[in-house]
Amino acid sequence: MNGKLISVIVLLCCCLQATAADPATGKKLFQARCASCHNVNKKLTGPALAGVDQRRSEDWIIRFVKASQSMIKAGDKTALEVYNANNQVAMPDHPDLSDDMIRDILAFVKEEASKAPQADEAPFSRPGQKEPNLMPLSIYNLPFMVAYIVLVMIVIILLVFLVNVKGYEHHMEEKKKE
Ligand code: HEC
Repeated sequence: MNGKLISVIVLLCCCLQATAADPATGKKLFQARCASCHNVNKKLTGPALAGVDQRRSEDWIIRFVKASQSMIKAGDKTALEVYNANNQVAMPDHPDLSDDMIRDILAFVKEEASKAPQADEAPFSRPGQKEPNLMPLSIYNLPFMVAYIVLVMIVIILLVFLVNVKGYEHHMEEKKKE
């Protein structure tokens, strides 16, 4: 009885293992077939794919990747919206990808999106308000500001010192005249 139960559980686990989406395969597929137009976290020709599994159903994504244009022609509202939002650039069909291959790609997208949410964000930038990193005098560039202030202070000290020396020389000359 117990032995049977265990073997059923083991069998179930094996089935789950076999059907679980594999992000490593997905990564290879993504790089070969999608990366020319898509990045997970950045918009290229196509939209950034991070969070696409939350925006759309898996079934919708699979149908879209296989044949987006026929969905648009068939009047799928979401597909048309995405198409219009991306300057009506058509995504090529991928009829040779199986449902499982697309699930693998989605697993990779999910993994990649959670790994580095915004690795290239500067520490002080807010979404939609990226500060170019080329502004040396920005108060956000703390090391530069500190170096700048130190430099200004050194120049001031030097000037004060020079003025003092001049004053001293002047004083000595006055003394000599006396
Ligand atoms: C030649 C460029 C190109 C390639 C290659 C490409 N796409 Fe796209 N993709 C687009 C464009 C452009 C859109 C915008 C919508 C449209 O064209 O209808 C898009 C839209 C999408 C969307 C909908 C996004 C959303 O926000 O709803 C998904 C999902 C998608 N692509 C997945 C993929 C996958 C997976 C692959 C690889 C198998 C792939 N794409 C390959 C250009 C491409």
